[in-house]
Amino acid sequence: MTYRILFVCLGNICRSPTAEAVTRAKAEARGIDLVLDSAGTAGWHVGKPPYTPMQEAARAKGYDLSALRARQVSTTDFGTFDRIIVMDSDNAADLAAVGPADKVTLFTEFASQSGMEHVPDPYFTRDFDGALALIEACADGLLDSVEADARQVR
Ligand code: 4NP
Repeated sequence: MTYRILFVCLGNICRSPTAEAVTRAKAEARGIDLVLDSAGTAGWHVGKPPYTPMQEAARAKGYDLSALRARQVSTTDFGTFDRIIVMDSDNAADLAAVGPADKVTLFTEFASQSGMEHVPDPYFTRDFDGALALIEACADGLLDSVEADARQVR
């Protein structure tokens, strides 16, 4: 069965759609079959495409976010997805009201060499390139972990 990963941030218009698109591109390049999606803990931007400055920073590095649309995370996501990956500890705290914590992991745990404890929100920092670079490092580490898990199962 295909492994399913949901990325979660606050608005689902900056960090988590970028994490989804970057991880999808990197998984395809490695030949790893995954189901990927993203959602926000807040419903403010439901139905909207990713934030234009985030899309532009991603497009400059070859990632197309234009087809993605924001949605709000729901309790059913905890049944649908094998792992739920959050961008910061506020996201994790907000998700604790939605479903069990055992599936929830901080994205930065997959890029410990970065020294970052969370993915800073570029909607507020305006550092879209920095967020993208950290998300790329986290995605590489996540896919290393998925490949290592798959080797153990085999
Ligand atoms: P995200 O960034 O959680 O990375 O999508 C945000 C986008 C919008 C808002 C907050 C964070 N907002 O307050 O509208």
